[in-house]
Amino acid sequence: MQQDIRQIGQVPWTVEEIADSLAEFVALLAGKPLESNEGGMKAPHLFATWFLLRKIQPACVIESGVWKGMGTWLIEQALPTAEIICIEPVLENIVYKSDKARYQTQDFAQTDWDKMDKERTLLFFDDHQNCFQRLQDARKWGFEHIIFEDNYPAKQGDCYTLKKVLMHAGFEAPKPKAYGRWQQLKHYFLPPKTEYIIPNRQDALYVEKNCEIYYEFPPVVKNDTTRWGDAWNEADYPTPLPILSLPTDNTFKIFEEEAQAYNWLCYVRLRK
Ligand SMILES: C[S@@+](CC[C@H](N)C(=O)[O-])C[C@H]1O[C@@H](n2cnc3c(N)ncnc32)[C@H](O)[C@@H]1O
Repeated sequence: MQQDIRQIGQVPWTVEEIADSLAEFVALLAGKPLESNEGGMKAPHLFATWFLLRKIQPACVIESGVWKGMGTWLIEQALPTAEIICIEPVLENIVYKSDKARYQTQDFAQTDWDKMDKERTLLFFDDHQNCFQRLQDARKWGFEHIIFEDNYPAKQGDCYTLKKVLMHAGFEAPKPKAYGRWQQLKHYFLPPKTEYIIPNRQDALYVEKNCEIYYEFPPVVKNDTTRWGDAWNEADYPTPLPILSLPTDNTFKIFEEEAQAYNWLCYVRLRK
């Protein structure tokens, strides 16, 4: 049976602080290194990631899923002195390469993180892998801070997300044709892909037990339809309230234009 958990625990920031940061972020975005980030993060999640990184202030970020490198640039902007480790199996797709980052193709789950300062490291997963498995791997190593960029709700998306877990939804990998044009991109979807997970409440119990915080970052604005073109409804798409109402001030038009890229990005703080 489906349940609706949008947040676990309390976060040390307010909706007002999020709203007050929007203008600074829009000014920052004017200096982005890539004209377009098709296939990667757009304004709603770039903003969410930038805001969260500045609040959490990790000394190191492990970015899994680099694509063209927009996320790496964003990490540099939010945390100018942080160490950055980038994991990307297809390095030749990277356009923006950071001098500060260390790049590797080896998967997060196949890397020895023993020497890392776990309390001061944040894991940023945007790699379309099984997020529940990633969470368990992060816990195994003792990491505490995670952002999951892909957090698709019950009936959508190409990976098992924490939102699906918390909705008791299980997961069925979409048929290849549903990937559409992304399938054309070189190696965009790579194994290992989880194919099927039976709907269950055990995975949700694990998340509830091990997460001090699970926080879905709110959309900046909400257009009439979801990213899949259907009308919003709270049963299929439980969503935090948007930060701004429509129409927005001209400064924030980018959030209206790219509103459909919103995908329930979440921050997780694991228990010690
Ligand atoms: C959605 S894109 C990342 C977008 C990026 N965060 C941005 O907006 O700047 C997903 C990326 O994950 C990479 N990927 C696929 N499997 C992966 C894995 N097992 N570990 C790390 N990255 C992986 C893909 O090659 C692709 O570049």
